[in-house]
Order: sequence, then C-alpha cells, then structure tokens
Amino acid sequence: MSSEKRIGILTSGGDCAGLNAVIRAAVHRATLTYGWQVVGIREGTMGLLARPVRYDVLDLGMVSGTMMRLGGTILGTTNKGDPFAFPMADGTVRDRSVEIIGGYRELGLDALIGIGGDGSFAILRRLAAQGGINLVGIPKTIDNDVGLTETAIGFDTAVAVATEALDRLQPTAASHARVMVLEVMGRDAGHIAVAAGIAGGADVILIPEIPYRIESVADKIRQVRQQGRNFALVVVSEAVRTADGKELQREFTGGQKRFGGIGDYIGEQIAAATGAETRVTVLGHVQRGSMPSPRDRLIASAFGVHAVDLIAAGKFDRMVAWQNRQVVDVPLEDAIADYNEVELDGALVRTARGLGICLGD
Ligand code: F6P
Repeated sequence: MSSEKRIGILTSGGDCAGLNAVIRAAVHRATLTYGWQVVGIREGTMGLLARPVRYDVLDLGMVSGTMMRLGGTILGTTNKGDPFAFPMADGTVRDRSVEIIGGYRELGLDALIGIGGDGSFAILRRLAAQGGINLVGIPKTIDNDVGLTETAIGFDTAVAVATEALDRLQPTAASHARVMVLEVMGRDAGHIAVAAGIAGGADVILIPEIPYRIESVADKIRQVRQQGRNFALVVVSEAVRTADGKELQREFTGGQKRFGGIGDYIGEQIAAATGAETRVTVLGHVQRGSMPSPRDRLIASAFGVHAVDLIAAGKFDRMVAWQNRQVVDVPLEDAIADYNEVELDGALVRTARGLGICLGD
C-alpha cells in the first residue's frame, strides 16, 4: 500500500448509540495523523452492492460538532441481505459477494473498517478472504455478546436506558402496589438485564443463561410483601423461554422473526401465582436510540483511533477490543468464535445473588 491511503468505513447490523462517535474518531485519526481519506459506505454492504456504489467522502468538516453526540449511524446500516445468500425479488436466493467486492474495488480502497457484531463480522471476513480486503473490525452491539472484549459500543447506553426505565417504573409501581415487569433486549445474552437489573434495584432478573421456575419468582414476590414492601420490579431478558421451553417470537415484514412476548407471559404467570396486580413494559428499540453515554463515546473514540492505527501498522483481520482498561486487538476469528454470554460465576451474577435478587433458579 502507498503511504497515502483511502480507507472505507461501514456500519453493519442493528444500530446502537456510539456508532457516530466511532466514525468521527476514525476520520480524525486518519485525516489528522496520517493524511488519509475516509470513505463512508452507506447502509453496510448494501452500499457496495448498489450501482452506482453509495458512499460519502468524510472530511473533518462533516464529522465535527454534534456528530459524537448523535445516536444511530449517519451512514445507515442493514441487518438483512446476507451477500452469500441474498434474497432476490423473485423469491430466489443468490450469491452476490462478487458484486460487493466489485463495489469495494470501484472505490479504490486500501482497507475497510467494519463496525458490527459477530454476525456482520462473519460475513465481512468471508468477503475479505474472497476479495483480498484488508479488514479491521470494531465491535458494537447493545447485546454485548461479542467475544474477547469486555464491552461493545452501545451496551453502556442501553444499560443506562433500561436502568432509567426501572427508575421511572419504581414510583408508579409503589403508588399502585404493583409488580412491574420490564422486558429488555439482548438476544441470547442476558447482559442488559443483569446490569440494568442490579443498577435499577430489581427484585427479580430472568436471563436466558439461567433456567427459572415461576415458583421461585412468586416466592420472591411474596417475600418482598412480607418484608412490608408493596411493589416489586422484575426484569426479563427477551430470549427467556416459557416454562415448557418455548422461544417466544414475533414475525415482521419479509418473514423476519424477532424475540417478543416473554414479558407478557411472565407477567401473567406472576399474576396467576401471586394474585399481584401486574403490568408489563416492553422497552424495545428505545434501548438502541439515544445520545451515547460518556463511556460509550469514550470507548468508541478509543476503538476508532486504534482501528486506524491497525491499518497504519498493516495488521488486518483483527478486531479492536477493550480489556483491562486498555484498547487492544485480537484476531477477528477468535472474537467471533468466543460468544460472550453472562458468566454464571462472574462478578455481576454474584453481586445480584448477594443483593438477594432472585435469578429464577
Ligand atoms: O442485536 C441487537 C438487537 O437490538 C437485539 O437486542 C434485538 O433482539 C434485535 O436487535 C432487534 O432487531 P430488529 O432491529 O431487527 O428488530
């Protein structure tokens, strides 16, 4: 590669708070330190599939000011349309990887920063291997399930939103002597539920990693009442199963299935078992859209800078990661392989148990 480079950056998968702060950081580092040009690719790999290719050249003027405070992604993103099995309008499925690699080549890029979760990384790695793309990954996901990093961008903000929801539910729960159930996102990992549940003073936290018995939950609610408290707060992770092990999902346009419904189910079970007046709040996408928290902005900034430095050092197929208060980098392959679920003997689960929070078991 020449010393003057043109690097691409894209956001892929579900959005979250902090993506714009990463883009800003990468543009700053690339422009100010190395004098390179940064190209923002629109809607993830969909921008590379489009003809003409959809992109913007990102200069310092475009990424200053309010950018790091903005939720979402200025580039747009996609969480559908696997390039290797792309759903066509006629109902068939086609491998369109060559077109995407062609789009990348058209832009004349020396390297690509992909901001995504493990699903996006798997696709980008495959494209990189096939097309000789110099890839660096930056982990983002409110689910915080990417391996080998203590945190992914967006997680901290999602926890703050879920905690604030509990703060807002508590007074109304106390006023009406109710059990409030809060369903949070996180896919198969219960990180948001555990963190927000502890921070928000929940009495019960149910996560996919720990099978629950509704009797344990009901016992906890009775205990709370016996201790003289008239309300209880229950946090349920979206991928928690029903008592008979069923995954509750909802179907959306195009047949896309997403978790949904377990909050209502648990609410009904609690009402039936305890006679408590119960209400359910499904927090949903509110957890993704917000001004990023200071910690997410900080980590996003560190990740953006480090990703550009990796390119400068010619280190590819790596993911930037946060470990022991440092920004480091790890093989992308290892990060994808090491799914990060809630550790049952980890500090947060121990803390929850130490606080007397019922985890359903
Ligand atoms: O992976 C992030 C996430 O927000 C999950 O927590 C949630 O299950 C899913 O995405 C929702 O996806 P969509 O935005 O397609 O509804």
